[in-house]
Amino acid sequence: MRRAMTVMMATVVVSASGVYAEEAGHGHEGGGAAMTDASLIQVMHDLAAEMNRLQFGLFTGNRYQIERAARSIASHPTPKGGVKPYVKKNGDQIKAMVPEIDASIHGAAAAIADTARTAPIATLAARYSEIATGCVNCHLMFRDAD
Ligand code: HEC
Repeated sequence: MRRAMTVMMATVVVSASGVYAEEAGHGHEGGGAAMTDASLIQVMHDLAAEMNRLQFGLFTGNRYQIERAARSIASHPTPKGGVKPYVKKNGDQIKAMVPEIDASIHGAAAAIADTARTAPIATLAARYSEIATGCVNCHLMFRDAD
């Protein structure tokens, strides 16, 4: 299961890597990221709200809204204390897995933001699905989400 997920995530990362390079500075390790006092749960709530916003933009064809929501997801702040304190299982996998999952989410979100004004809505929707898959995969890996 983990192997299958790694292969899938690697595919997403490769497809998005060109865009992710521009976003690499968001840096969860502190390299240029917006460090805030927000807890991981607060950051997650905001990510979920921005996903709803992005979805609404896709459903209505509101490219302004799509761009704004995707940009917000791509540049979310680093949670205070990182991810580790909130992880319920597989804590030993954080270093190995989080950068990959994170890159796929940021790559897809940045790609949406960069192409929101021009790409077919169906293409943007497919990238939205990549983000949602990344969110769910991380939850399956580190939370009691089942
Ligand atoms: C790096 C791994 C990771 C990624 C990527 C991730 N999450 Fe989470 N998420 C977590 C962890 C860890 C928790 C908290 C686990 C817990 O306490 O149950 C969580 C919790 C949540 C919660 C529940 C918060 C609560 O009140 O219990 C929501 C909603 C959520 N995430 C949304 C998202 C969305 C939307 C995305 C994608 C845009 C996302 N997450 C991506 C790791 C991740």
